[in-house]
Amino acid sequence: MDLSDKLDELKTKFDEAVSKCSSLRELADLRVIYLGRKGELTQILRGLAGLSPEEKRNVGQKANTIKIDFEQGLNALAEKIENAETVGKAKKFDVTVPGIEPHAGTVHPITKTMNRMSEIFVSLGFRIADGPEIENEFYNFEALNIPLEHPARDGFDTFYIKGKYLLRSHTSNVQIHVMQTQKPPVQVIMPGRVYRPDAVDASHSFMFHQVEGLMVGKKVSFADLKGVLLAFCQSMFGPDIKIRLRPNYFPFTEPSAEVDISCIICKGKGCRLCSGNGWLEILGAGMVNPKVFEAVGYDPEEYTGFAFGMGVERITLLLYGIDDIRLFYENDIRFLKQFR
Ligand code: DAH
Repeated sequence: MDLSDKLDELKTKFDEAVSKCSSLRELADLRVIYLGRKGELTQILRGLAGLSPEEKRNVGQKANTIKIDFEQGLNALAEKIENAETVGKAKKFDVTVPGIEPHAGTVHPITKTMNRMSEIFVSLGFRIADGPEIENEFYNFEALNIPLEHPARDGFDTFYIKGKYLLRSHTSNVQIHVMQTQKPPVQVIMPGRVYRPDAVDASHSFMFHQVEGLMVGKKVSFADLKGVLLAFCQSMFGPDIKIRLRPNYFPFTEPSAEVDISCIICKGKGCRLCSGNGWLEILGAGMVNPKVFEAVGYDPEEYTGFAFGMGVERITLLLYGIDDIRLFYENDIRFLKQFR
């Protein structure tokens, strides 16, 4: 068989192989067999050396044409296989299979309540201030008119750290920091963590959150306090909510009051949540005691102000009908994910 016949035979074999090839892997093999350096076409071309010049030219030309055929044939085949595979994959993708729900985090209920409170007070013109949780007695007590040995300290059981430091037992300390660094008018809320050495149970925790408020200016009145608290409570709990102020004692305010809202469940008729009396206590408040102004260098003759403080846990329990404060600190996903 001469070389020309061999080329014809190779071409026939190639055509047959191409017609059977259906994958990119097989195709890669074909490329090696028919076009590779050790492939059959190369072998044939090696035999050209022993031919006469005229035969060399004829067979050479034929071999070149075949080589180009092979290249084009294989490229076309590659394209065909690739297309077929893409279509195949697209067909396998079932758009009706339910998706996998991504695990999105949720905002902690305490943070949610604090954010909502902040929004309301900011809309009423308050600015948000921050202060230290590790504090000394001056800010946590003395400047707030709770002198050492004063019986009022008993009401604010406190974690003491070495020396004169303690963990703040309320956010009222921030009032002092704010007034020391700012001249009136002042209109701030101060959210944050507070600490008390209480045994943990359904309604007590050694760490909890408060939001403190302070407004100082010329002629800030008790009526302003009541107006701000009513606006806050109605935004927070609903437009029909009523508030009630009961006289109380706090060293840093005079006069002082405890503030109740009408029960959010029974609207004041009396139910289990409000122990039958129609009201729920939610915060303490009053007019800033002149002694506190003196401690920060404000002139009590020139300025008046009101202050208030409330527990964030308590309000969150009420808002969501939760009956155990410990749920807030256990990080149980089954609880937390309900606050989408
Ligand atoms: N500091 C008080 C507490 O922890 C709450 C409080 C009551 C804050 C009356 C105030 C206030 O600013 O005027 O129980």
